[in-house]
Amino acid sequence: MAEDISSDPSPAPNPAPLPHKRRVRYSGRNPRRFEDKYKETNPERYAETVAKVMAAGKTPAGMHRPIMVAEILEVLAPQPGAVAVDCTLGYGGHAAQILAKIIPGGRLIGLDADPIELPKTEVRLRQQGYGPEVFEVHRSNFAGLPQILAARQLTGADLILADLGVSSMQLDDPVRGFSLKHEGPLDMRMNPHRGQSAAALLEKIQAGPLEELLTENADEPNAARLAAALAGKRFRRTTELASAIRAALPQPGPEQATLAERRVFQALRIAVNDEFSALDTFLRNLPTCLNPGGRVAILTFHSGEDRRVKKAFAAAQRDGVYAAIAEEVMRPGAEERYANSRSAPAKLRWARKASA
Ligand SMILES: C[S@@+](CC[C@H](N)C(=O)[O-])C[C@H]1O[C@@H](n2cnc3c(N)ncnc32)[C@H](O)[C@@H]1O
Repeated sequence: MAEDISSDPSPAPNPAPLPHKRRVRYSGRNPRRFEDKYKETNPERYAETVAKVMAAGKTPAGMHRPIMVAEILEVLAPQPGAVAVDCTLGYGGHAAQILAKIIPGGRLIGLDADPIELPKTEVRLRQQGYGPEVFEVHRSNFAGLPQILAARQLTGADLILADLGVSSMQLDDPVRGFSLKHEGPLDMRMNPHRGQSAAALLEKIQAGPLEELLTENADEPNAARLAAALAGKRFRRTTELASAIRAALPQPGPEQATLAERRVFQALRIAVNDEFSALDTFLRNLPTCLNPGGRVAILTFHSGEDRRVKKAFAAAQRDGVYAAIAEEVMRPGAEERYANSRSAPAKLRWARKASA
């Protein structure tokens, strides 16, 4: 929020100019550390650098590339005048595409649990010309969608999107503690003001429950061994945990070690953010949040999520709540997987609510 200085009668004299400080150079041709990628986090000024990073199939720092946009627009079929909810606003890539299709007369409510990225995304979309009458943001867990609709006197939405998991902005910023590549505090909370960090969870948990958590959240084959090595220990930094995971495995090859690290980080992230219980609640509430004939699309990134979506959609179709659901899961095409390596694990499912 801007500070009101209009009533200050004595404006301060101009401060002396600061001595020019040279930016510290990184070694090599391209910056590796997030903090050094100032060109990527400044796309208006360094559009060429950003385009080069994307052409190499990577995601520029501080940005998120929306996945399966064409497929999502096809299954949601947004029309002018529609009421849309983007439950996982992230960088706003999908939301921008939906907004362009629902005007005039439409309205999009964007939710996200992340209080750090959400205001930046709101500014970005406002700069694209979407005022509060057409685009509204709400920092909230999507498990609370029924209350959010009710507070706006809405009986339902015409289309709902959920693109699960974390955004590239969260993943790549070491300060958020999601990344096993970059050193940072072992946090992993989408909302760092709520709940407990991954470090606190590991320090408190016992081996049995940790083994269960690693199996349930990430199908970790060495769950028992890793749980015995990690439970009750204090790891302050992401890299400390990554080293402990490697040390706990008997002579792992580099690929095996990286996969184990990824699975443990994924399992902890899901636990810290209570992701499965939020998804279960959301899936249960969905039918009441959709208008008759309304459509939902959900992008998932691992089997634990996809299983839940598939099961919930099939059950609601059997009960006659959904008139149609995706027969087969949809995947990003080869071109998209090549252009954006982060799209590779994505799976898209959709459902359409019965008309009456
Ligand atoms: C993969 S990103 C979405 C990217 C977005 N579709 C775009 O185009 O930029 C997932 C986002 O969902 C948010 N999120 C994850 N689980 C959530 C939940 N239960 N409630 C609200 N937001 C959630 C994360 O904070 C993150 O910003």
